[in-house]
Amino acid sequence: MKREEMAEFIKTQTVLEKPSFVPEITLQLATEVTPIWKLTEERLKGGDLPPPFWAFAWPGGQGLARYILDNPDVVKGKCVLDFAAGCGIAAIAAAKAGAKLSLADDIDLLAQEAVLINAAHNGVKVEIYRVMSMDKPFTGADLIILGDVCYQQAMSTAIMRWLTLCLEIGVRILIADPGRAYVPKDGMKELARYTVPTTLELEDQKTREVVVWELEGFGGC
Ligand SMILES: C[S@@+](CC[C@H](N)C(=O)[O-])C[C@H]1O[C@@H](n2cnc3c(N)ncnc32)[C@H](O)[C@@H]1O
Repeated sequence: MKREEMAEFIKTQTVLEKPSFVPEITLQLATEVTPIWKLTEERLKGGDLPPPFWAFAWPGGQGLARYILDNPDVVKGKCVLDFAAGCGIAAIAAAKAGAKLSLADDIDLLAQEAVLINAAHNGVKVEIYRVMSMDKPFTGADLIILGDVCYQQAMSTAIMRWLTLCLEIGVRILIADPGRAYVPKDGMKELARYTVPTTLELEDQKTREVVVWELEGFGGC
């Protein structure tokens, strides 16, 4: 898909919404889960493209954005990387709260385009940055933020190994997680806890308890 086609797809398949837990931010979001998942499967069939994570503000991302907006000193004047940014809610919160540079990484090209569209809706600048190697620490940020990334074992293990390398060179790391299966069990300090409204279709629950953790050292999933 060309960039213009991706932008068109994002804008036609979602609506402008304010996530209930972070009403300061406006995003292109799916309002009902089934149609866009179905539609995406149909339109992109055979293209081996990932599901539209970018069309939802996940509970982890909402908790992370809430924490950043309520504690702007965490990002003020800092270079921040939102890894696995999805719709970009946390990167946008960082930019709004005064980050010197807000970078967003996502493996999905549609998510990268959604981040740029969403940043523009909120009048902030977020740059897309793709982390190409997780075998070495990322030197371009003072702070790495991650919302809802511990839902798959292989992904979570790879991310945590890489974050350990980043931690060793002095990068601060915040992870917001709604109790997913592969969140690390140790080396994490709780900074905040929120009850984030969600939808039954997406999460099978009306709310999710999200913890914003600071990674202090990783002992394993
Ligand atoms: C559950 S979504 C969370 C999105 C966002 N952080 C939030 O909380 O709303 C997970 C995101 O991780 C991205 N992702 C998966 N594997 C990745 C990888 N290896 N590198 C970067 N992003 C990845 C997906 O494309 C997806 O957008």
